[in-house]
Amino acid sequence: MTTTLQLTDVRKTYSSGHLEVEALRGITMSVDEGEYVAVMGPSGSGKSTLMHILGCLDVPTGGTYELAGTDVSRMTEAELAEVRNRRIGFVFQGFNLLPSMPAWRNVELPLVYAGVHRDERRRRAIAALEKVGLGDRVAHRPGELSGGQQQRVAVARALVTDPALILADEPTGNLDSRSSADVLALFAELHESGRTVMLITHEPEVAAAAQRVVRIRDGLIDQRVAA
Ligand SMILES: Nc1ncnc2c1ncn2[C@@H]1O[C@H](COP(=O)(O)OP(=O)(O)O)[C@@H](O)[C@H]1O
Ligand SMILES: [Mg+2]
Repeated sequence: MTTTLQLTDVRKTYSSGHLEVEALRGITMSVDEGEYVAVMGPSGSGKSTLMHILGCLDVPTGGTYELAGTDVSRMTEAELAEVRNRRIGFVFQGFNLLPSMPAWRNVELPLVYAGVHRDERRRRAIAALEKVGLGDRVAHRPGELSGGQQQRVAVARALVTDPALILADEPTGNLDSRSSADVLALFAELHESGRTVMLITHEPEVAAAAQRVVRIRDGLIDQRVAA
């Protein structure tokens, strides 16, 4: 199996003025293509910082991150933008949908950036919404949908470019248990169809949906076995 992600002694220190926060203090881990991994840790342990680095939304201040064998620090800004747009699908806790746009327009956005023709964009956006069970809500705006439905729109947007890697940061954090189960069922399907899925959460019940759980604590991998 090819390794999709390899982090070696990854560090991230935030500096503002003379204040420094060591959010990641040397993370070494790898994730194989097609794996479903949960990263679990308490609030403030560095999960979102790690997700930003994994998603090429931010860069480490130390160590190396290789994505599909390429050291991310050697990629140009244009290459990084291409990776973010075409190879990774993002899902966030707060859905991050544009409120004035109907569901299908939100979903087609990554395809706009990818330069896909208008008719093809609409077709693929609607197909993605059908896949998450929202074929009858394509013209609804986010405010006209429940939280669980909004997160399913966000999942449709994440998969519309057919990315190899799905990164989700606390995707069920704002959802009731029924909607959480719906969203986790979608990730299970994405995993079964061969994608690599990384799910970041502080909830053990959510982490249990993954094949493997990596625990982090104070910016380090926690080697202790859970009781
Ligand atoms: N942009 C930032 N500037 C300064 N400190 C930050 C920033 N983002 C996160 N931190 C700090 O880094 C640590 C890890 O944060 P974060 O990665 O958001 O943790 P988690 O997602 O596990 O709650 C925390 O102490 C947080 O306050
Ligand atoms: Mg977080």
